[in-house]
Amino acid sequence: MEMLIRRGFLWQSFEIYGGIAGFIDYGPLGNGLRRRIENIWREFFVIGERAVEIDCPTIGIEEVYIASGHATSFTDVAIECSECGKVYRADHYIKEKLGLEIDESVEAVKSVLEEFNLKCECGGKFKDPEKFNLMFETKIGPGKGKRGYLRPETAQGIFISFRRLSDYFRDKLPFGVAQIGRSYRNEISPRQGVIRLREFNQAELEYFVHPEEKTHPEFEKYKSKIVKLLDKNNVEHEISLKEAVEKDIIKNELIAYFIAKTEEFLLNLGIDKSKLRFRQHKDDERAHYACDCWDAEVLTNYGWIEIVGIADRGCYDLSKHSKHSGEDLTVFVPYKEPIKVKKKVIVPEMSKLGPIFKKKAKKVAEELKNIDPEKISGKIKIIVEGEELEVPDECYSIKEVEEMVHGEKIIPHVIEPSFGLDRITYAVLEHSFDKDFVDGEERKVLRLKRWVAPVQIAVLPLLSKEPFVGKAKEITLKLKKAGFFTEYDDSGSIGRRYRRYDEIGTPFCITIDHQTFEDNTVTIRDRDTTSQIRVKIDDLLIVLSQLLNSDKDIKEFGEIFRE
Ligand code: ATP
Ligand code: GLY
Repeated sequence: MEMLIRRGFLWQSFEIYGGIAGFIDYGPLGNGLRRRIENIWREFFVIGERAVEIDCPTIGIEEVYIASGHATSFTDVAIECSECGKVYRADHYIKEKLGLEIDESVEAVKSVLEEFNLKCECGGKFKDPEKFNLMFETKIGPGKGKRGYLRPETAQGIFISFRRLSDYFRDKLPFGVAQIGRSYRNEISPRQGVIRLREFNQAELEYFVHPEEKTHPEFEKYKSKIVKLLDKNNVEHEISLKEAVEKDIIKNELIAYFIAKTEEFLLNLGIDKSKLRFRQHKDDERAHYACDCWDAEVLTNYGWIEIVGIADRGCYDLSKHSKHSGEDLTVFVPYKEPIKVKKKVIVPEMSKLGPIFKKKAKKVAEELKNIDPEKISGKIKIIVEGEELEVPDECYSIKEVEEMVHGEKIIPHVIEPSFGLDRITYAVLEHSFDKDFVDGEERKVLRLKRWVAPVQIAVLPLLSKEPFVGKAKEITLKLKKAGFFTEYDDSGSIGRRYRRYDEIGTPFCITIDHQTFEDNTVTIRDRDTTSQIRVKIDDLLIVLSQLLNSDKDIKEFGEIFRE
C-alpha cells in the first residue's frame, strides 16, 4: 500500500479533509491499470461472446428497486454500541471476534450477542441489531421531488431495457448484455481499505438463455479443464468441469463455462493460479435473486476475498419487472416443427346473444372468444363499454378444436458473471508484487503482465543532454503515436531509473546510448530478467508490439531481429 500511494496508483479520497472510509481516488497509474483490465474484460466477455455493451444511468427511480427487491432485501445487519455509538456490520464483527459464521438475520445476531455476551471494542453494550439497507437514497428534482437510489449493481439497467435489447437480438437466445460502470453501496463499516468501497466499479454480463438450455456453444472447449472448487458444504474438489456438472456440484454447463472463462480471464491478468478458487454460496448466503452462485475468490493479505460472483438469477428479475411494470418481457421461441394441439374454445351463440344484449351482442361475442374455457368457474361476467354483464350459459358452447402451434413465449433465465474491477485491480497488484536481488541490491518489482502494465515502455536517454535527450524524445513521440503507453524520463542515474520503472511494473526500458548515434540502434531492457537486446530503431515498433503481446523471453526476440 505504501508503494501504491507513493507511486500514484491510488490513495484515500478527500485526503486533505481527513478522508472517509470506502472511497479511493485512482491516480495516473491505478487508473491506467484499471482501464487496461476493463478493456481486457471487454475482449473476453463482450467481443468474445454473442454480446453487446450498454450504458445506463447510475441513479435509478424507486420503482426499479421496489420491483427488484433491493428496497426491502438489500440489507445487512448492523449493531450499534450504546456507549461510543460505533456501528459494525454484525456478521463481520462476529466472525472477527468469535470466529463464527452466522446467517445474516436479526434473530441470529441477537442470539449470538446474548449467548456470548459480545461487547463493543470499547466495552460498551450493543443496542438491538437492526437491518440496514445498503442503497444510497437520493431525491430527483426540486421540492418533494421523486425518490431515487444510486444503483447498487449495474445489472438492473439491463433488465429494465430487456424489451429493446431482445428486439436488438431479434428475440434470438442466447444473448449477452454487458455494462461497465460505477455502483454504490453504503457499506456499514468498510474497514478493509480498498476491498470494501462505497463507490466502486463493476463489469457485469447478463447472459440470457432459454431456461432449458443452460449451456454454451463453447463449453466443449473447456469441459476437461480442471478447476479448484469449494462447494456449499465446504467440500473441496479439484475436478474437471464436465465431471463437476455430471456430479451436480455445478448445476449447469453455462455456470461451468463462465467459471472456466473467468479463470482464463483472471490468469491472463496475472492472478496467481495457486491463490485462486471458486466457492459456492451456502443456501442461507445467496442474494435474494439468486438460485445458485459461485464466487471467484483470491488469497490476499486480507485473506480470501471475493472478486467475481457468478450467479444463476433464473427468471427472477425479468418476472418481477414484468409484474411491476406491466410490460411483456417474454421472448417468443419457435418450435423446430409446428405442433398440433387440442384446445377448448368458447363458441358464442349469436341467436341467443342478439335478443339479450341487442346492440352490444357483437362485442359480447368478441369478449367471450378471449376467455379460456379452462378458467371458467360459475357464471361468466364480462365488461363491455364499462358495464359488467353476466352471460347466461345458453349463449355459448364449449368445443374442442385442433390448432397448429408454432412456438411458445418464455421468460428467459439469466446467468450473471459480475466482476468487481477495484478488487481485481488490487489483487493483480498484490499478486504481481515481488522482491529480488539485482547487482547485490534488493529491488522491488511489479511483475505485471506486459499487456496490463499502465506504463509499458520507458524511454531513457543515457545522459540528460543532447543529442541523447532529443533522440529519446523523438522515439517517445513515435511510440506514443503508435499507441504504446510510454513515458520519457531523464532524471537520475540510469540504474535508479531502471529501479523506478521496475517498481511500477514497466516491462521494457529503452535506452538511447552512445552506440545509438553510430548504428541507429537502442537497447531494450526486460524488467523481469534485466537482460537487454539491441534493436534497430526502424524495427522498434514491430519488436515492441510482438514483445508486449507475448510472455516470451526477450532474448528470443533478440535472436529473431539480430539480422
Ligand atoms: P461481499 O460479500 O464481499 O460484500 P458481495 O457478495 O456483496 O460481496 P456481489 O454483490 O456479488 O458482492 O458483487 C459483485 C462483485 O462486485 C463482487 O464480486 C465484488 O468484486 C464487487 N463488490 C461488491 N461490493 C463491493 C464493495 N463494497 N467494494 C468493492 N467491490 C465490491
Ligand atoms: N450484480 C450482482 C451484484 O452486484 O450483486
